[in-house]
Amino acid sequence: MDPRWNAACLNMTTALLLLSALLLGHANGTNCPDAQALLDAANAYRANHTARALTWSSALAQQATSYAAVLAAQQCALVHSSTGGESLYTLASYPKPDATCKRAIDAWYTEVKLYDFAAASPCAVNCNRPVGHFVQLVWRASTAVGCGVGQADVPMPRMPGGVGGCKVIVCYFKPGFQMNDAAYKANVGVPALG
Ligand SMILES: *[C@@H]1O[C@H](CO)[C@@H](O)[C@H](O)[C@H]1NC(C)=O
Repeated sequence: MDPRWNAACLNMTTALLLLSALLLGHANGTNCPDAQALLDAANAYRANHTARALTWSSALAQQATSYAAVLAAQQCALVHSSTGGESLYTLASYPKPDATCKRAIDAWYTEVKLYDFAAASPCAVNCNRPVGHFVQLVWRASTAVGCGVGQADVPMPRMPGGVGGCKVIVCYFKPGFQMNDAAYKANVGVPALG
Protein backbone atom coordinates (compact mmCIF):
# COMPACT_ATOMS: atom_id res chain seq x y z
CA MET A 1 0.00 0.00 0.00
CA ASP A 2 1.20 3.51 -0.75
CA PRO A 3 2.65 4.86 2.53
CA ARG A 4 1.01 8.25 1.91
CA TRP A 5 -2.37 6.53 1.73
CA ASN A 6 -1.55 4.71 4.98
CA ALA A 7 -0.73 7.99 6.72
CA ALA A 8 -3.95 9.54 5.43
CA CYS A 9 -5.88 6.58 6.81
CA LEU A 10 -4.23 6.96 10.19
CA ASN A 11 -5.06 10.66 10.27
CA MET A 12 -8.64 9.89 9.35
CA THR A 13 -8.86 7.26 12.10
CA THR A 14 -7.45 9.70 14.64
CA ALA A 15 -9.95 12.35 13.56
CA LEU A 16 -12.85 9.92 13.89
CA LEU A 17 -11.72 8.81 17.33
CA LEU A 18 -11.47 12.43 18.46
CA LEU A 19 -14.89 13.18 17.02
CA SER A 20 -16.56 10.23 18.75
CA ALA A 21 -14.89 11.17 22.05
CA LEU A 22 -16.36 14.67 21.68
CA LEU A 23 -19.81 13.37 20.80
CA LEU A 24 -19.98 10.74 23.52
CA GLY A 25 -18.42 12.82 26.26
CA HIS A 26 -16.25 10.85 28.65
CA ALA A 27 -15.22 7.42 27.46
CA ASN A 28 -16.45 5.96 30.76
CA GLY A 29 -19.99 7.15 29.97
CA THR A 30 -20.45 9.10 33.17
CA ASN A 31 -20.64 12.72 34.18
CA CYS A 32 -19.53 11.91 37.75
CA PRO A 33 -16.15 13.62 38.18
CA ASP A 34 -15.18 11.08 40.86
CA ALA A 35 -16.27 7.86 39.15
CA GLN A 36 -13.03 6.07 40.03
CA ALA A 37 -13.32 7.01 43.72
CA LEU A 38 -16.94 5.85 43.67
CA LEU A 39 -15.96 2.49 42.15
CA ASP A 40 -13.10 2.05 44.62
CA ALA A 41 -15.42 2.79 47.56
CA ALA A 42 -18.05 0.37 46.29
CA ASN A 43 -15.45 -2.36 45.88
CA ALA A 44 -13.98 -1.76 49.34
CA TYR A 45 -17.44 -2.23 50.86
CA ARG A 46 -17.98 -5.32 48.73
CA ALA A 47 -14.69 -6.86 49.82
CA ASN A 48 -15.87 -6.63 53.43
CA HIS A 49 -18.91 -8.70 52.46
CA THR A 50 -16.92 -11.24 50.42
CA ALA A 51 -18.25 -9.97 47.09
CA ARG A 52 -15.95 -9.63 44.10
CA ALA A 53 -15.05 -6.24 42.70
CA LEU A 54 -17.43 -4.66 40.21
CA THR A 55 -16.19 -3.46 36.85
CA TRP A 56 -17.28 -0.11 35.45
CA SER A 57 -19.77 -0.23 32.59
CA SER A 58 -19.82 2.81 30.35
CA ALA A 59 -23.14 1.61 28.90
CA LEU A 60 -24.76 1.48 32.36
CA ALA A 61 -23.16 4.83 33.19
CA GLN A 62 -24.66 6.42 30.07
CA GLN A 63 -28.06 5.00 30.98
CA ALA A 64 -27.69 6.31 34.55
CA THR A 65 -26.58 9.74 33.37
CA SER A 66 -29.61 9.98 31.07
CA TYR A 67 -32.06 9.00 33.82
CA ALA A 68 -30.38 11.36 36.28
CA ALA A 69 -31.11 14.22 33.86
CA VAL A 70 -34.79 13.20 33.75
CA LEU A 71 -35.03 13.23 37.57
CA ALA A 72 -33.03 16.45 37.89
CA ALA A 73 -35.61 18.17 35.68
CA GLN A 74 -38.20 17.19 38.34
CA GLN A 75 -36.16 18.88 41.09
CA CYS A 76 -34.26 15.66 41.75
CA ALA A 77 -37.36 13.60 42.48
CA LEU A 78 -36.66 10.16 43.92
CA VAL A 79 -38.69 8.17 41.43
CA HIS A 80 -37.63 4.70 40.34
CA SER A 81 -37.88 3.72 36.69
CA SER A 82 -38.76 0.14 35.89
CA THR A 83 -35.08 -0.74 35.35
CA GLY A 84 -33.68 -3.46 37.62
CA GLY A 85 -30.59 -2.89 39.77
CA GLU A 86 -31.33 0.82 40.07
CA SER A 87 -30.20 2.79 43.14
CA LEU A 88 -31.04 6.47 43.64
CA TYR A 89 -29.69 9.12 45.96
CA THR A 90 -30.88 12.69 46.15
CA LEU A 91 -29.78 15.76 48.04
CA ALA A 92 -30.87 19.40 48.13
CA SER A 93 -28.70 22.07 49.70
CA TYR A 94 -27.61 25.66 49.90
CA PRO A 95 -25.10 26.42 48.57
CA LYS A 96 -25.69 24.19 45.56
CA PRO A 97 -24.11 20.73 45.85
CA ASP A 98 -21.14 19.83 43.66
CA ALA A 99 -21.34 17.09 41.03
CA THR A 100 -19.46 14.39 42.95
CA CYS A 101 -21.08 10.97 43.24
CA LYS A 102 -19.15 8.87 45.76
CA ARG A 103 -21.27 10.03 48.69
CA ALA A 104 -24.18 8.00 47.34
CA ILE A 105 -22.19 4.79 47.88
CA ASP A 106 -21.35 5.80 51.46
CA ALA A 107 -24.97 6.74 52.17
CA TRP A 108 -26.28 3.46 50.77
CA TYR A 109 -23.81 1.48 52.85
CA THR A 110 -25.04 3.03 56.13
CA GLU A 111 -28.15 0.84 55.77
CA VAL A 112 -25.94 -2.07 56.90
CA LYS A 113 -26.78 -1.20 60.50
CA LEU A 114 -30.42 -2.16 59.86
CA TYR A 115 -29.59 -5.51 58.26
CA ASP A 116 -30.10 -8.66 60.33
CA PHE A 117 -27.25 -11.01 59.36
CA ALA A 118 -28.39 -13.68 61.85
CA ALA A 119 -31.83 -14.22 60.33
CA ALA A 120 -32.46 -17.81 59.21
CA SER A 121 -34.81 -16.49 56.51
CA PRO A 122 -32.86 -13.42 55.43
CA CYS A 123 -35.34 -12.04 52.91
CA ALA A 124 -38.39 -12.68 55.08
CA VAL A 125 -36.70 -10.57 57.77
CA ASN A 126 -34.77 -8.00 55.73
CA CYS A 127 -36.83 -7.51 52.56
CA ASN A 128 -39.28 -5.30 54.48
CA ARG A 129 -36.51 -3.15 55.92
CA PRO A 130 -34.99 -0.06 54.28
CA VAL A 131 -31.78 -1.90 53.40
CA GLY A 132 -32.22 -2.43 49.66
CA HIS A 133 -29.40 -0.08 48.65
CA PHE A 134 -26.97 -1.86 50.96
CA VAL A 135 -28.08 -5.26 49.67
CA GLN A 136 -27.60 -4.14 46.06
CA LEU A 137 -24.18 -2.66 46.81
CA VAL A 138 -22.73 -5.88 48.27
CA TRP A 139 -24.74 -8.36 46.13
CA ARG A 140 -22.26 -11.07 45.16
CA ALA A 141 -23.77 -11.91 41.77
CA SER A 142 -23.52 -8.32 40.52
CA THR A 143 -20.52 -7.81 38.27
CA ALA A 144 -20.87 -4.32 36.77
CA VAL A 145 -21.95 -0.84 37.76
CA GLY A 146 -22.35 2.51 36.06
CA CYS A 147 -23.48 5.81 37.59
CA GLY A 148 -24.37 9.35 36.62
CA VAL A 149 -25.56 12.57 38.24
CA GLY A 150 -28.14 15.25 37.48
CA GLN A 151 -28.25 18.73 38.97
CA ALA A 152 -30.83 21.49 39.08
CA ASP A 153 -31.58 24.79 40.76
CA VAL A 154 -34.11 24.72 43.59
CA PRO A 155 -35.99 27.79 44.85
CA MET A 156 -34.95 28.51 48.45
CA PRO A 157 -36.73 31.78 49.27
CA ARG A 158 -35.14 32.16 52.69
CA MET A 159 -31.59 31.88 51.38
CA PRO A 160 -29.49 34.73 49.95
CA GLY A 161 -30.29 34.97 46.24
CA GLY A 162 -33.29 32.68 46.79
CA VAL A 163 -31.79 29.73 44.94
CA GLY A 164 -30.11 26.53 46.12
CA GLY A 165 -29.54 23.32 44.27
CA CYS A 166 -30.21 19.62 44.17
CA LYS A 167 -28.45 16.63 42.77
CA VAL A 168 -29.63 13.14 42.05
CA ILE A 169 -27.19 10.26 41.69
CA VAL A 170 -28.26 7.17 39.76
CA CYS A 171 -26.37 3.86 39.69
CA TYR A 172 -27.27 0.74 37.75
CA PHE A 173 -25.90 -2.56 39.06
CA LYS A 174 -25.97 -5.62 36.80
CA PRO A 175 -27.38 -8.08 37.44
CA GLY A 176 -29.70 -6.53 40.02
CA PHE A 177 -30.52 -8.17 43.36
CA GLN A 178 -33.41 -10.60 43.80
CA MET A 179 -35.87 -10.68 46.68
CA ASN A 180 -36.02 -14.24 47.97
CA ASP A 181 -34.39 -16.13 50.84
CA ALA A 182 -32.19 -18.38 48.71
CA ALA A 183 -30.80 -15.43 46.78
CA TYR A 184 -30.19 -13.43 49.96
CA LYS A 185 -28.39 -16.39 51.56
CA ALA A 186 -26.11 -16.75 48.56
CA ASN A 187 -25.47 -13.07 47.87
CA VAL A 188 -25.34 -11.05 51.11
CA GLY A 189 -22.16 -11.88 53.02
CA VAL A 190 -21.55 -11.19 56.70
CA PRO A 191 -18.85 -8.55 57.34
CA ALA A 192 -15.53 -10.33 57.02
CA LEU A 193 -13.06 -7.56 57.82
CA GLY A 194 -12.93 -6.51 61.50
C1 LIG B 1 -16.77 -4.28 57.75
O1 LIG B 1 -18.14 -4.03 57.98
C2 LIG B 1 -18.50 -3.91 59.32
C3 LIG B 1 -20.02 -3.72 59.35
O2 LIG B 1 -20.39 -2.61 58.59
C4 LIG B 1 -17.77 -2.76 59.96
O3 LIG B 1 -18.08 -2.68 61.33
C5 LIG B 1 -16.26 -2.94 59.77
O4 LIG B 1 -15.58 -1.83 60.26
C6 LIG B 1 -15.94 -3.14 58.32
N1 LIG B 1 -14.52 -3.40 58.13
C7 LIG B 1 -13.75 -2.66 57.33
C8 LIG B 1 -12.31 -3.03 57.27
O5 LIG B 1 -14.19 -1.73 56.68
